[in-house]
Amino acid sequence: MAVDKKILDLKQRREKVYNGGGMKAIEKQKAMGKMTARERIIALLDADSFYEYDIFVEHSGTEFGMQNKELPGDGVIIGTGSICGNPVAVFAQDFTVAGGSLGLMHARKIAKIMDYALNMRMPLIGINDSGGARIQEGVNALAGYGEIFFRNTLSSGVIPQISVILGPCAGGAVYSPALTDFVFVVDKISKMFITGPEVIKTVLGEEISMEELGGARVHCEQTGNAHFFAETEEECFRQIRQLISTIPQNNTQPAERTNPEEPLTKKYNIGKIVPADPAQPYDVRDIIRSVTDGSEFVEVMELFAANIVVGFGRVNGETVGFVANQPLVMAGVLDCDSSDKAARFIRFCDAFNVPIVTIEDLPGYLPGVDQEHAGVIRHGAKLLYAYSEATVPKITVILRKAYGGGYIAMNSRHLRADFVFAWPQAEIAVMGPEGAANVIFRKEIMEAENPEAMRQTKIQEYKDKFANPYVAAAKGYIDAVIEPTETRKCLIHALQVAQHKTVLRPEKKHGIPPF
Ligand code: HXC
Repeated sequence: MAVDKKILDLKQRREKVYNGGGMKAIEKQKAMGKMTARERIIALLDADSFYEYDIFVEHSGTEFGMQNKELPGDGVIIGTGSICGNPVAVFAQDFTVAGGSLGLMHARKIAKIMDYALNMRMPLIGINDSGGARIQEGVNALAGYGEIFFRNTLSSGVIPQISVILGPCAGGAVYSPALTDFVFVVDKISKMFITGPEVIKTVLGEEISMEELGGARVHCEQTGNAHFFAETEEECFRQIRQLISTIPQNNTQPAERTNPEEPLTKKYNIGKIVPADPAQPYDVRDIIRSVTDGSEFVEVMELFAANIVVGFGRVNGETVGFVANQPLVMAGVLDCDSSDKAARFIRFCDAFNVPIVTIEDLPGYLPGVDQEHAGVIRHGAKLLYAYSEATVPKITVILRKAYGGGYIAMNSRHLRADFVFAWPQAEIAVMGPEGAANVIFRKEIMEAENPEAMRQTKIQEYKDKFANPYVAAAKGYIDAVIEPTETRKCLIHALQVAQHKTVLRPEKKHGIPPF
């Protein structure tokens, strides 16, 4: 065959694979409001940056009529490309080909791109749209998942791993995402479950729709399995691009530095955000935006455990992870879910050398039977563990309340914060003045002629003594009492000073965090 003909043959072979499961299946995909796997990759990556591999891989199924079936690319596209100039590795499952189900060769393709990502230290983005293990391939499909889970674990803390759920994902198709760092979902399109509605109906007799069982909102608001919610696939890809350009590309390189930008101080005036009355709420995200470059903030898990806010912003050009109590929701208390959310975020920051800024204003841990029985002891302990374990620069700013376990847990000096700043209105104590007075002056209050008047006197006494930052400052537990308007300046200085922070910890294989 002449070279020209061979090139034409190559083009025809490629074209056949590009058609995926064929026009009918593609139309079905579109009718569900979904892009095709190939369109998704194009929308995600920089223009013309995608290079595809293993396009001619064929499936190896031999049972249940599989030997006569053609499955172009075995239902998955793999390759490398870039996002804002940063190299990334990508796979996208093609639901038009056998429902994106995972057979042995499909799994091998994913494993290959995962190996590239790890060896070349670039982020991995997996676009999942799959019915899970290919039933006709039996144990070979399960083996494929095992190989993927192992690689997910090997890559954890070395390269950022991002999962995008863009279809009904069942079984193994959701366990791999659960092992990754950030899961993105799209309203009405994403579904995640271990067993679908049919199995639930058969086994338990319970009826539930796919959306109610494992839709995007369910996983963002209730289960915490997903971290970013989008209305459309296009918005989802924009979110991923923003995240990738904010975080480090691996655990040895810092995130790209950008030109420092001043915050939008007219919109986010740090001196005016926090009400003087400690019982009044405010949106702590305004505080974060009042100190970040251009007031930009990439919030992670916005819809889950909203009593704590976590996410990334830049301060003087450097990427920083923020962990902040949210007085707007349940007064910013710590509970099981918010502890889990913050602890995992802290461990990501620590693994990827992102300094952590903690913004504190909380009355403590949420009391109650529900919380106790839900295991608030072990969940809350995760936060203590994560902060104590982290060796990145750790800076705390106490805005108002820092009571009890909350004071210790929110990156206190005692868990090895490098810098602790407090505003003049900060109150650092074992508990709020009302509760404290009721406990330690109970006898005097009960025996007083006018118990209520005595209670108020004792509350005031306690406030005068402890509801300020100066007792902690006198012991060196906080480093400086600062004016609110000095906050950004102090953060910039602390981050500069801590640039080469080095701490040595005892050698060990690994710790055992509370589960
Ligand atoms: C083989 C599959 C498949 C699978 C879907 N298909 N899932 N083929 N193995 N796991 C095929 C269908 O037969 C169909 O083929 C095509 O994909 C599209 O599927 P539909 O059912 O028509 O689509 P839809 O109605 O949108 O429903 C999607 C779905 C459903 C919810 C994902 O297909 C489903 O419930 N699939 C099975 C899910 C499941 O139980 N997976 C096994 C998980 S166990 P045709 O030829 O008709 O177009 C697992 C083990 C790993 O993953 C565990 C690790 C810990």
